[in-house]
Parts: sequence; structure tokens; C-alpha cells
Amino acid sequence: MPNWINYWSKNPRLFGIVMEQSTGYFAQSLLQQKILKPGLRILDFGCGPGYLTKHLTDTCTAYIGLDISENYIETCREFFSNEPNYQFFRIYPEPNKCSGLAKAALAAGSFDLIIIHSVIQYFSSKEIVFDLLLASKKLLSPHGKIILADVVTQDKGLYKDALAVLRHSIRNGYFWSFLHFMYQAKVSGYNETRKKQPLLSVREEEIKDICNQLTLQCSLLPRCTLQVSRNSYVIGF
Ligand SMILES: C[S@@+](CC[C@H](N)C(=O)[O-])C[C@H]1O[C@@H](n2cnc3c(N)ncnc32)[C@H](O)[C@@H]1O
Repeated sequence: MPNWINYWSKNPRLFGIVMEQSTGYFAQSLLQQKILKPGLRILDFGCGPGYLTKHLTDTCTAYIGLDISENYIETCREFFSNEPNYQFFRIYPEPNKCSGLAKAALAAGSFDLIIIHSVIQYFSSKEIVFDLLLASKKLLSPHGKIILADVVTQDKGLYKDALAVLRHSIRNGYFWSFLHFMYQAKVSGYNETRKKQPLLSVREEEIKDICNQLTLQCSLLPRCTLQVSRNSYVIGF
């Protein structure tokens, strides 16, 4: 039965320019909001093919990217092979159970910024979001922050989001890539997987409730992703 773990493990080249543009927009927003600044030790959970990583070369002193896709991790390792402070690891989440982060061998308190961008909608349950934030909390330095971004809040918002990306593609000259992306969504099994395992929506109150349970502070970030119906949060001690 199709699920997101299988999907992302097998279709790593999907979305190309559209994903690169969306991630670039997000990185620019973080720079403008001074969340990305020099000297940070960054953990990028669900790093994909390294689109965000490319925007971090002036800002971080150490970077670890984690993803479930072996091909994405290989792509990142090749592309950043000249960056000794950048490391990439494949992780193995347990479907319905665990995000995989708790099992990654990372030192407690060693990250100033943990970025989770456009990932949790592919989890099978909200318990795994809890598990991810719990594991992230342990890895965070005392003044560190978690940026939980591009969280799907309601399934109905997806059409508005597609429209926002379409507009951006027209203004920024990648309309044909947008069409290709829509085509890929159809033929790669993305749409079929979505039918079998709908994207996980998590409302603002639910994210804040999880943070409360974990004694973490959480606030909404001003919109920092292209997708208009999604939320992003800054979370810390
Ligand atoms: C839409 S892409 C976003 C990639 C990247 N965060 C970016 O901003 O460019 C979603 C990514 O999440 C990864 N992913 C999906 N489920 C995951 C999981 N359970 N654990 C870790 N990564 C996951 C996918 O392999 C893919 O790289």
C-alpha cells in the first residue's frame, strides 16, 4: 500500500525547480527575519536534495542534514563534498511510531537552530510530531530555536497553495517547471499516495498544545513560505 515513507524513499528527483524555488523563498524569509545569522550550528530535518543547505553557506559553522531518502543524501554528499563542516545522514523512521530523530546519534544540546521545513505533512500521525519535537528539544542548545515551517493546517488549503506557487512561477519565470511539477505529481504516484495517506494537517492550537506538554514556548512566524494556507512556528525554551 502506498505511503509517504515509501514514496520519498523512491522518488527523490521529483519537483526539482518548484521545490528549489519554494525553499529559496523560505530561506530568504529566514534571512530577512534574522533567524539565519552567522555562527549557527544547524540541524536540517528532512533536508531533501540540499536546496536550503545552499543558502546556509555564509551562516552556519556546522550543519547536519537528515533525510529518509538515500538518493537525496547521496546528492547532498556529492554537492557539498568540499564543505567539511557539512554532514548528511539517512534516517529510518518507524511508520506510525517514531520520527527517527531520537535514534540519530547526535549530541544533546548541540544545535542553535533545528529546521523542519515542509516535512511533517508526510508523517502518519500527530504522535510522531510530538516525538520529533521531544527529540529536537533534547538536541537544542539553551538559546536554540526550532523552526517548524510550512505546516499544513487544513486539507482544503492545498488549492490556494497551488495557486500561490503558480503565481510565483509566472512572476519568476519557471511556469513550465510548474506544469512539469503538476504532471510529475500525477505520474510519480504523489497524488495516488495522497489518496491513500492524506497529508497530515495540524492546526495551530494542536502545535501549541504539543509545545505546552513539552514545556516549550511556541509562536507563529510571519508568513515565510510560498504556500499561503500553511503555518510556520518558532519554538524554544
Ligand atoms: C517537500 S520536501 C522538503 C525538503 C526540504 N526540507 C526543503 O525545504 O527543501 C520533503 C522532504 O521530507 C523528507 N521526509 C519525508 N518524510 C520524512 C520523515 N519521516 N523523516 C525525515 N524526512 C522525511 C522527504 O524525503 C523530502 O526530502
